[in-house]
Amino acid sequence: MHQLKRNRRLRTNESIRSLVRESRLSPDDFLVPLFVVDGEKIKEEITSMPKYFRYSLDTLEKEIKELWSLGLKAVLLFVKIDPALKDNRGTEALNPNGLMQRAIKTIKNVCPEIIVMTDVALDPYSNYGHDGIIDNGSIINDSTVEVLSKMSLSHISAGADFVAPSDMMDGRVLSIRNILEQEGHVNAGIMSYSAKYASSFYGPFRNALDSSPVFKKNIPKNKSTYQMDYGNRTEALKEVAMDIDEGADIIMIKPGLPYLDIIRDIKSKFEIPVAAYQVSGEYSMIMAGCEKGWLNYDETILETNIAFKRAGASIIASYFAKDLVKIIS
Ligand code: PBG
Repeated sequence: MHQLKRNRRLRTNESIRSLVRESRLSPDDFLVPLFVVDGEKIKEEITSMPKYFRYSLDTLEKEIKELWSLGLKAVLLFVKIDPALKDNRGTEALNPNGLMQRAIKTIKNVCPEIIVMTDVALDPYSNYGHDGIIDNGSIINDSTVEVLSKMSLSHISAGADFVAPSDMMDGRVLSIRNILEQEGHVNAGIMSYSAKYASSFYGPFRNALDSSPVFKKNIPKNKSTYQMDYGNRTEALKEVAMDIDEGADIIMIKPGLPYLDIIRDIKSKFEIPVAAYQVSGEYSMIMAGCEKGWLNYDETILETNIAFKRAGASIIASYFAKDLVKIIS
C-alpha cells in the first residue's frame, strides 16, 4: 500500500517550508506604539512592561530615526501627562501646545514621512482614569464625543496623519469625520478601535500611563459600560459595520491573540484594512515567560505575530515590532 498523500513532504526542510509558507511578516506590517512623557533626556523603563520605555521629546527623536532606519513606517502615540493637568473633562487634551501636540510636531520634524497615529480617548487626561466624562456615576456619551472630536482636530492640525479613537463611545467616528471634513482635513485618516473588548490585558498599559480608573464612590470600577463584553462575537461585526459607515478608514481589533476569531470574521465580511493590537498584557505575559526561561523570546514573538497575519490582519500594533524586524531581516 502506497500513501499518495504525504503532507510531511512539504515540511522536509526550511527551504521547502518557506516556499509554501502562507503568512509572513515584513516591516511594512507594523505600527509601533510609543509612550511619551514631558521632561528631558528621559528614557525610562516601564515597570509593568520590562524593556519597554517612555520617552521625552528629545530621546523620542532618536528613537524615531532608529525605527525609520529599520523600515518601520508608522507609530501610534500615547502620552503620560502630569496628574496636576488631569480633570473630568480632559481639558488638557485640547491644549494646542499639549504633550501630544508637541510630540506629533517633533516626530514630523525629524521624519516627515513616518505615519503618525494618535490615541484618542480621555483616560490619560481624566482624573478618574476613564475614557469619557463622568456625570453622576456614568460615562456621558455625547458630551464625551464632542471633546473627542475637538481632540482629533487638534491632533490632525498638529500634523498627525491618523487619529485612532480607542474610547468606544457611540457615534464618535461620524462626529470626528464631520469635524475633519468641515475643517478641510479631507485626507486625515481614522483608524477606529471598533471592536475593543473590556479586557484584563490592558493592565500593564494603565500602569505605563498611570491611567487606571480610580477607586472612588460613584466612579465605575471598570470600563464595561463602554468597552465590549468579551462573550460577544456578532456585536463586533455590528460595531465594525457602523464605523465603516461613519467614515473609518482602518478598523482595529483589540486585544490581539485572544480575539483571532474576531479578526477572521471581520476580514471575511468587510473590505477594509484590519489592524490587530497585541496589547500590553500580551507583551508582559510573554516577557515574564521569557524571563523565567520558560519561553523562547524570538520564537514566541514570531509565532504570535504571524498568527495575526494568518487570521487576516494586515496591520499589527505590537510592542515587539522593533525586535521582530531585527529577527526577520
Ligand atoms: C486608552 C487605551 C488603552 C489601550 C489603548 N488605548 C487602555 C484602556 O482602554 O484601558 C490599551 C493598550 C495596551 O494595553 O497595550 N483608551
